[in-house]
Amino acid sequence: MRIFSGIQPTGRKHLGNYLGAIVQYVEGQQRAADAGDVAIYCVVDLHAMTVPWEPAEMRERVYDTAAVLLAAGLDPEQCIFIRQSDMPEHTELAWHLGAVTSHGDLNRMHQFKEKSARQRDLISADLFTYPVLMAADVLAYRANEVPVGDDQRQHVELMRDVAQRFNDRFGEVLVVPELRIPSVGARIMDLQDPTSKMSTTGGSVEGTVYVLDEPKAVEKKFKRAVTDSEDPPRIVRGASKPGVSNLIDILSATRGMTPDEVEASLADARGYGDLKVATADAVNELLAPVRERYTALRADEDALEAIFAAGAEKARAITQPTLRDVRAAMGIGPRT
Ligand code: TYM
Repeated sequence: MRIFSGIQPTGRKHLGNYLGAIVQYVEGQQRAADAGDVAIYCVVDLHAMTVPWEPAEMRERVYDTAAVLLAAGLDPEQCIFIRQSDMPEHTELAWHLGAVTSHGDLNRMHQFKEKSARQRDLISADLFTYPVLMAADVLAYRANEVPVGDDQRQHVELMRDVAQRFNDRFGEVLVVPELRIPSVGARIMDLQDPTSKMSTTGGSVEGTVYVLDEPKAVEKKFKRAVTDSEDPPRIVRGASKPGVSNLIDILSATRGMTPDEVEASLADARGYGDLKVATADAVNELLAPVRERYTALRADEDALEAIFAAGAEKARAITQPTLRDVRAAMGIGPRT
């Protein structure tokens, strides 16, 4: 059972990334090892070039993201931790997969529609073919499982179709991977606008809890979180209570309790204030140690480069045989 997932180096990582994805990455390392296989995690700097970026900041952001992931518990001895741009096999495979990806399918991608609508200047070809590179990231490793948050569901479904279409046309070369979405925490919402997902690009700073926020800032953001005016206040989930539901989900994912257990534990609460305080405390307990470890890890860029170099070497041992098989099946390159 092999696991692959990727994360963008854009901006600062937030609680949605943490609960939707990073917690699963950490857990996946042991699960993959127990099954005699490995988990591969990738900082996807090439995907970050699909919207405007500052070249001078890109490498810094890759280091920031790498240090957050290591501080959260990724162990480069146990998993394979890589930077996407170190791996030319990903981009080569993306080209090959483009041959079995339909333009119409790419046109239907929600993320492309949202991001291209926001773009003032150039809507690049790379933004359009983003999901093909994402498919290549995973398929190059013949991974079985892709842990992601709910917003990546459509991309993973597309990658499954692409793998299937490749195999139908060229023979059983690729593995069709399974989507893995957490039961709670797959869609953390903005604290100020609980009908939009928490995000680095779309949301508000006040409504977004960053992994590296100071405890005081975290408390303040939860204290100001939008709830509802139901009287008397009820701490239960429901379609008409997006703010309260989001806080219950966050508390549940953070404490490792079910949402029902969270509701029961707060049955005697006096109001939404108690829910907000409990959630802020739980998030601070989760993130404080990460923040502490981050500082030392981020300071040593040479060590981060060494981790990427070692990761790329281990990764190539998996991707190069896949690419050999793909080229042979497609009839390109020298005779094998
Ligand atoms: P990215 O960098 O936007 O997000 C990283 C992970 O965080 C999850 N996530 C959330 N989960 C819950 N609630 C939220 N509000 C929230 N916001 C983000 C995302 O679902 C994701 O799992 N395209 C990917 C990166 C990628 C990738 C891959 C993923 C590139 N290649 C191959 C898997 C496999 C992305 O932009 O994630």
